[in-house]
Amino acid sequence: MIEFRNVSFSYGDKPVLENLSFRIPTGEARVIMGQSGSGKSTILRLILGLAKPDEGDILIEDTNICGVRPRVLREIRKRIGMVFQDGALFDSMTVGENIGYYLLEHSKMRFDEIGEKVREMLGFVGLSEDIIDKLPDELSGGMQRRVAIGRALLSTDPKIMLYDEPTTGLDPSMASNILSLINRLTEFKKVTSIIVTHQIADAFEISKKFIVIDSGKSIFDGDITQLRQADDSRIVEFLKPFRDSIANVQKNEFI
Ligand SMILES: Nc1ncnc2c1ncn2[C@@H]1O[C@H](COP(=O)(O)OP(=O)(O)O)[C@@H](O)[C@H]1O
Ligand SMILES: [Mg+2]
Repeated sequence: MIEFRNVSFSYGDKPVLENLSFRIPTGEARVIMGQSGSGKSTILRLILGLAKPDEGDILIEDTNICGVRPRVLREIRKRIGMVFQDGALFDSMTVGENIGYYLLEHSKMRFDEIGEKVREMLGFVGLSEDIIDKLPDELSGGMQRRVAIGRALLSTDPKIMLYDEPTTGLDPSMASNILSLINRLTEFKKVTSIIVTHQIADAFEISKKFIVIDSGKSIFDGDITQLRQADDSRIVEFLKPFRDSIANVQKNEFI
């Protein structure tokens, strides 16, 4: 479970999040949508404990992370997998080293055992074992994103996955692949997931429930039917370019 209770946060005197509240039950996925600069990445930073709210509380699996010691925070962070906007792989390491890095550094597993885990993970994220010795540069953007997801999974055995703009820069079919991988993770591994995106079409592929933020405030929290009915002018404005994809989602629901 991840819960924000009346969270406010500013960078210096610049308010970024204002009185933000939402709750995501264990094992569910939420898409947080909002324009660039609306505060989405900041929400993820707060969940990771990389920044602290000025006001309000953040609960992760019943622990209020705002007042805990750094050691407790590190334990919580170990259960959170994070996939950043640009994949952020280590350029000079092979795919295998990228995915197995955490185990190499922090576990007592033998080299061949780690190799085995890495191969399994490549299969899980839909990549061939043949790329294990390649460098990230030699892969397509979509493959790099898969490697990043594999690395996050093998590093943390996560209860929570956070994805920051997971399909940005990918062509539509690659994007769709990544989204179905995210879906698979949420459904079969029962991972609580937050997917942050400004690409609204993504949202409908992943989640049935959405949060829309605008200038750090939550202006919507609900499902597609409620989203279509929303008459808040900021939501109408935000949704305008995507009217067709929203209409399609509704059609599909009746099939
Ligand atoms: N380290 C920082 N210092 C000062 N301002 C920041 C910092 N990081 C982000 N901001 C500002 O906070 C606002 C929200 O940023 P962010 O959470 O990254 O938005 P989003 O991910 O929705 O694009 C933006 O106006 C951004 O310029
Ligand atoms: Mg961002």
